[in-house]
Amino acid sequence: MNYNRVSRSPFLGRRRCTYLIFLSFVGSLFLMIWILKGPIWGMSEEAMDMDMYSQKMNSLKKLLQDGVTEDDPNLIQLIRTDFVFLPEIKPYNLKNPSLLDYSCGQSGAIDTILNQKEKGFYIEAGAYDGESISNTLFFEKVRKWNGLLIEPDPFVFERLKAKNRKAILVNSCLNIKPQPSILEFNRGNEMGRVWVDQEDKIWVKDMKMKVNVIEVPCFSLYSILLAVNQTTIDYFSLDIEGRELSVLQSIPFDKVHIDTFTVEYLNGEDNYSREIKSFMEKNGYQHVTNLPGNKTCTARDALFKKE
Ligand SMILES: *[C@@H]1O[C@H](CO)[C@@H](O)[C@H](O)[C@H]1NC(C)=O
Ligand SMILES: *[C@@H]1O[C@H](CO)[C@@H](O)[C@H](O)[C@H]1NC(C)=O
Ligand SMILES: *[C@@H]1O[C@H](CO)[C@@H](O)[C@H](O)[C@H]1NC(C)=O
Repeated sequence: MNYNRVSRSPFLGRRRCTYLIFLSFVGSLFLMIWILKGPIWGMSEEAMDMDMYSQKMNSLKKLLQDGVTEDDPNLIQLIRTDFVFLPEIKPYNLKNPSLLDYSCGQSGAIDTILNQKEKGFYIEAGAYDGESISNTLFFEKVRKWNGLLIEPDPFVFERLKAKNRKAILVNSCLNIKPQPSILEFNRGNEMGRVWVDQEDKIWVKDMKMKVNVIEVPCFSLYSILLAVNQTTIDYFSLDIEGRELSVLQSIPFDKVHIDTFTVEYLNGEDNYSREIKSFMEKNGYQHVTNLPGNKTCTARDALFKKE
């Protein structure tokens, strides 16, 4: 026993030493990545009350069995109680509190078209975290507007809530048909998108995104507007990663008045962008310009104004 220990210990010791050096190397590597990129296991997300979320989804599922229309009073009430959050009175909790324009040119362009209008009303979908590349925070901070922020991803929604925007928040996706539904949604931070047909799947693959699907409630824009008592809108920022045209087609333009739009648009030359333009023109909008985007601001938006 003794003999063995004495003769083996120098060897074991050296090996242990190498092992320890290796471990501390790996440890500091992880620490560095953590500092640079945030926690690496799981997406760094805020606590979310999954039970509460499932409860809400179950009440919606019950309602869906009855086949409600988009203006059904029970549906509007359920949206109000379960998916709408009224404006926050606490001070902002922003990463970049002194910035005024968080957009990639959208806010400035709309502000000019609307002659620096004060106290208007905006809609932003998807709202993402309510700060990074927000097209509407400018109007809230500088022009004292109220508004509506729509974000389907329930985890991202927790981050949005934490910013204390002075806006009504809605945790749902925008449906492409009038009736409400529950759809699968592929999470992807600011690139989340519903996961319904082949086109969505090809898009997620083309964007080299991971597949991480959850169920989300989807309401038509009109249902949401009824739930928040607002059908006159000054500016609608629509950027929902590829389903913009379908959402536009679902808007009852005879019941909802929207003055200006920015719509995410790929390059202005493809068929999708042309279809958006032609659809908007048919519905009484003028295509004002395309915001070109650049290396830091990859978003390319088409800007429309009611004629
Ligand atoms: C990209 O565009 C935005 C918005 O117009 C602008 O603020 C930013 O400076 C531009 N960045 C570069 C690198 O040109
Ligand atoms: C909309 O109106 C209803 C009924 O009057 C009210 O309960 C609700 O708080 C209002 N919602 C908003 C966001 O103003
Ligand atoms: C775009 O539209 C043109 C004419 O409508 C059509 O010929 C062409 O196949 C379309 N391209 C794609 C990629 O869908």
